[in-house]
Amino acid sequence: MTQSLFTPFVLNERLMLNNRILMAPLTRCMAGPGLVPTQTMADYYARRADAGLIISEATIIRADGQGYPNTPGLFTQEQIAGWRVVTDAVHEKGGKIFAQLWHTGRVAHPHFWGGDEVLAPSAVGIEGTVPRMRELAYLVPRALTVAEIATLVEDYAKAAENAIEAGFDGVEIHGANGYMIDEFLHHDTNRRTDEFGGSAENMVRFPLQVVDAVIERIGAWRTALRISPAAYFNIAPDNRDREVFDLLLARLDERELAYLHGGIFDDSVHYDYLDGRVSDYLRAHSRHTLVGVGGYSADTGASAIDEGKFDLLAIGRPFIANHDYVARVKAGQEVLAYSDEQLPVLY
Ligand code: FNR
Repeated sequence: MTQSLFTPFVLNERLMLNNRILMAPLTRCMAGPGLVPTQTMADYYARRADAGLIISEATIIRADGQGYPNTPGLFTQEQIAGWRVVTDAVHEKGGKIFAQLWHTGRVAHPHFWGGDEVLAPSAVGIEGTVPRMRELAYLVPRALTVAEIATLVEDYAKAAENAIEAGFDGVEIHGANGYMIDEFLHHDTNRRTDEFGGSAENMVRFPLQVVDAVIERIGAWRTALRISPAAYFNIAPDNRDREVFDLLLARLDERELAYLHGGIFDDSVHYDYLDGRVSDYLRAHSRHTLVGVGGYSADTGASAIDEGKFDLLAIGRPFIANHDYVARVKAGQEVLAYSDEQLPVLY
């Protein structure tokens, strides 16, 4: 029973989504030289334009935000022009698309931009090497100065403005999965003793500054946020983080947002420190339109919407494996299984 997925949804009384199936942000490492989106990417997204809303793969806001090869950017005119081809192709098919704005923080590697250091909230490194480029070991980052934090906030806002210039319908700020914004929200990665660390009040300051700067630049109705309260990606869990996320959500409730999105791979996991699943926790602590994601099928996602657990369903891996995911679900057809091995060839 997937009917509820096919009822239209109006985001913030402005943006009409044809259905409630969102394409989750999915990094594909397909950008061309200069991190410019390619024609293949335009074709890839256009084939999925019958989603209610596509969220683009994470897209870096400035050169030193890069942590993986061939991830697209939104900070040069060439990149903006490349994205314009993508957004035009999606719009021609009647679709809508948001850009996911990304800085990888301590997961960045200077190999990609020819620098010699990595910036993060605190000088706490991660073990290991860059995926797909195992010869590159991660560096211990340098803690951002207060002046550099102000510049970073401005760079998020500028990238949001660039996204609108590139024809996107809005942006999703990537505050999830262990990257820059998420690193401020967890005690494991934020050891600052200035106004950006040490207490929940201080730890939410930078994420809220980014949200406010983006809202001011492009409007709240097309500004969304993805967060990972479950601390599962490159960050060690810490029970004190709960208080930080409680405060963040309370502060977000004082603002308008297009939607709030949980960043998680499997939303069936129960986290004691969240008193439930990530979607349960976000639902209980936020008044915003909520996007559920993580291991859902159309059936389980529709049931969750029917039960009021969230409002919109994001589909990730199945959307890579099935460019016609929405049509298949609507027709009650089988959905092809995803496997990591197929990843390089599927578009
Ligand atoms: C992801 N995910 C992800 N999340 C994000 O916020 N930005 C991104 O760029 C990516 N990139 C990405 C690439 C690939 C290959 C995978 C498999 C996942 C996470 C994704 O948006 C989603 O949360 C998970 O895939 C869980 O949803 P599904 O796949 O179970 O529907």
